[in-house]
Amino acid sequence: MKERENFGSRIGMLMAMVGSAVGLGNIWRFPFLVGEYGGAAFIFVYIICVIILSLPIMFSEFIIGRRSKSNAFRAYVKLTDKKIWKYVGGLTVFIPLFILAYYNVIGGWSLDYFFKACTLSFTGDVDSASLSALFGNFISSPWKPAVSLILFFTITAIIVYMGVKDGIEKFGKIMMPILFFVMLAIAIWVMMLPGASEGIKYLFKPDFSKITPQVCIAAMGQAFFSLSLGAGTIMTYASYVKKEENICASSIKIALLDMMFAIIAGSAIMPAAFAFGIDPGQGPGLVFETLPFIFSKIPLGAPVAILFFASVFVAALTSTISQMEVGVAYLVEEKKMSRRKACTTLFAIISVIGIICTLSFGPLSGVKIFGKGIFDTFDNIAANGLLPLSGLLASIFVGWIMPKADTLDGFSSGGSQKFNVKIYPAVRFLIRYIAPAGIIVIAIANIFF
Ligand code: TRP
Repeated sequence: MKERENFGSRIGMLMAMVGSAVGLGNIWRFPFLVGEYGGAAFIFVYIICVIILSLPIMFSEFIIGRRSKSNAFRAYVKLTDKKIWKYVGGLTVFIPLFILAYYNVIGGWSLDYFFKACTLSFTGDVDSASLSALFGNFISSPWKPAVSLILFFTITAIIVYMGVKDGIEKFGKIMMPILFFVMLAIAIWVMMLPGASEGIKYLFKPDFSKITPQVCIAAMGQAFFSLSLGAGTIMTYASYVKKEENICASSIKIALLDMMFAIIAGSAIMPAAFAFGIDPGQGPGLVFETLPFIFSKIPLGAPVAILFFASVFVAALTSTISQMEVGVAYLVEEKKMSRRKACTTLFAIISVIGIICTLSFGPLSGVKIFGKGIFDTFDNIAANGLLPLSGLLASIFVGWIMPKADTLDGFSSGGSQKFNVKIYPAVRFLIRYIAPAGIIVIAIANIFF
């Protein structure tokens, strides 16, 4: 059998994982959730969730992926004889494809806003009302966002078709740092605005009375979503990772970087929303209405806008690549499809679902499922339901099903990483008890309160 591909370099694999993690989840989803769920209180719960839920689950996915050296479906089956885990594997492959469908919608928005930036739509005489109208007209159009979505998804599919090494590594390495510094510069500029202090307080001074079960589940969902957990992504990438890689150090680095991107995005958007009188709790449109307004005000706004949306586009792309890769690896290795056929099949099915999601901002906006639109329903089911469920199963698998010696071997690279061996009892406690219990408690609290 052909050797499984390995990542070309250490930094290459780390960058690909960071590329998967850092995406619209940080730049688009995090800020609007912060606005919807009460600012600093949400951020506080989010950070706790990352530390006690996401990290142990990331370790688990790393351990499963690297040990099994298989796609997310086969991974479970390979490590146990118990039949039930086959379905868990199936679920794990299904989830990122489900997410991909509606994630592409926002990917399309970012591509369109890149074009808008290139045609200088955010310069000159614009105000927040005109930018809000620009956005509203775009997303409610019956065809414009669908075209952007297809364009965006086509680019993803072509890169995935080209393969892991060539496709993914190059992109991440160049664009991530650019995105980081552009966002940092915007955040610093925004923080110095006259009316920004309210926004800064909103971001960093938690009002603990705002913490409700709904805030907790949204924060937990975001902690999974943002780190690409519960969806076989880390598992699939980990299956390409070399034996010597330090799972603990890599996970912590990815989580820290990811959190930094989110907080900086929040710091660029929240104070600006307050300073310019934009409603921070308006939902998915927040970033697309706030940032163009900032670009219209700052020095060198036009080139900064172009650079910003170009890097958001690439950040989104490295995430969709990672989502699609899970499904393609499954179809190629399990269903013996050619890579080309796997890509085109997924492309066809997922595009249709994506377009239906897109239309929920326009012609289908009247369609409500339990009071939520189609897009919101997809996002809600995925982030607050499927991801925690699959994360829970991954932690149960590593904590309770795999032999302890194997999990320790994975976590410490065969015992060679002494520090990891030393902290393993604590890590195992998190994986076995804290992470599963945390997820279950938050889920139950949401059902009953
Ligand atoms: N983490 C990415 C982001 O924040 C999105 C993403 C990529 C993802 N792969 C995933 C989310 C798998 C959930 C599951 O934008």
